Amino acid sequence: MDKLVIRGGEPLLGTVRVSGAKNAALPCMAAALLTEEPVILENIPQVRDIQTTRNLLAAMGAEVELGCGRAQHRTTLHCKNLASPEASYDLVKTMRASTLVLGPLVARCGRARVSLPGGCAIGSRPIDLHIKGLEQLGAKVTQDHGYVEATAHRLKGAEIVFDKITVTGTEDLLMAATLAEGETILQNCAREPEVADLAALLNKMGAKIEGAGTATIRVKGVTKLKGAKHRIIPDRIEAGTFLIAGAMTGGDLNIAGCDPAHLGAILGKLKEVGVKTKSTADSVRVMGDNPFTATDMSTEEYPGFPTDCQAQFMALATQAEGASVITENIFENRFMHAQELIRMGANIKIEGRRAVVRGKTPLSAAAVLASDLRASASLVLAALVADGETIIDRVYHIDRGYEHIEEKLRAVGAQIKRIGEMFPKKAAAVK
Ligand code: UD1
Repeated sequence: MDKLVIRGGEPLLGTVRVSGAKNAALPCMAAALLTEEPVILENIPQVRDIQTTRNLLAAMGAEVELGCGRAQHRTTLHCKNLASPEASYDLVKTMRASTLVLGPLVARCGRARVSLPGGCAIGSRPIDLHIKGLEQLGAKVTQDHGYVEATAHRLKGAEIVFDKITVTGTEDLLMAATLAEGETILQNCAREPEVADLAALLNKMGAKIEGAGTATIRVKGVTKLKGAKHRIIPDRIEAGTFLIAGAMTGGDLNIAGCDPAHLGAILGKLKEVGVKTKSTADSVRVMGDNPFTATDMSTEEYPGFPTDCQAQFMALATQAEGASVITENIFENRFMHAQELIRMGANIKIEGRRAVVRGKTPLSAAAVLASDLRASASLVLAALVADGETIIDRVYHIDRGYEHIEEKLRAVGAQIKRIGEMFPKKAAAVK
């Protein structure tokens, strides 16, 4: 299992480029299931969840073509014949977003069999709202042996009000509704930019969708969708992580190729903390030369502060003067990084969904364990300012969603290297 070895204390200086958004790419790849024609996606990040989705689609009979070299960020998905509309437990257990294939498969093939995802590190994460919505669109849904099976001759448009805002739930039903008979109105939808990006692709494929990116989405069903070419939006969570990295290390970092319009809540919080930033149309420069002031933060659905940047913000809060109260409203168990940060010297008390972080505390390097994707990112941030050499184990979590993170950070001055199983006992020292 790979580990990251990071020696802290270097300010990050220069330009780092943001990759395409994993959470936009995943539903866009699932959308290729809706048509017999090829779908070409550009700006696909080279991360493990994308590879898992390619494998998932290939197992169903899709032809998956990768560009070569730099063009690897482009993928062509051709779902001409779908021999097996199934997502097996082996794939779903490593990536819960595999459930995104449920809606498109039942809409296109009239049948889908997808493993139930089960629990995960950050909470129970049920898919009841996906299932309820599909039933409202006329699918017959049954569950046995850990699988959910949905069948429908043709889905029928309906008015669906989500009981709770769900990102992939909105995306799943949006895809299903494109091929349903008649009009579907989805209410209390997730307003994340990734939902709007999926709708942009679907409309290029011939769907008739209005209102994506707002709480109400209207879809006029069509009988067939065609192929299309689409460029995935930049990853706002990766951009947020680099913004916090630049600030924490007292650096001067230009985050290029991002969309500052998607970063409002993060930029707002950084300003409250005392971090200076300067945005252009597609970049943000962060200057971390001020002391930080503690501030409270609550995660919310978009456009609120993203839960996917909560762990990274907690790392920043350890370096702010005073007490920061961090409230996690989206997932019930998303403070696993706190224990590891405490091992590095942070002063954090957890009370249910709240974490109280008292700073500023000096952080000292330790051997730490990554528990999930974003928790790993917070440990990388803490390590960048810690005294000494931190070894982060189980970095496969970070590889699910961050493209070449160590190469990107090294290029702007971080002392970071990856070591593999060939050195299982003793970490090679970072120069
Ligand atoms: C997506 C993102 C993930 C992000 C999360 C919240 C992708 C691939 N993943 O995950 O990175 O952290 O949004 O911004 O885009 N819920 C139910 N029933 C359901 C579905 C969800 O109760 O059927 C609950 C969840 O347990 C959670 C809340 O709704 O408490 C929000 O979850 P949801 O928005 O669905 O998260 P994901 O789409 O899985």
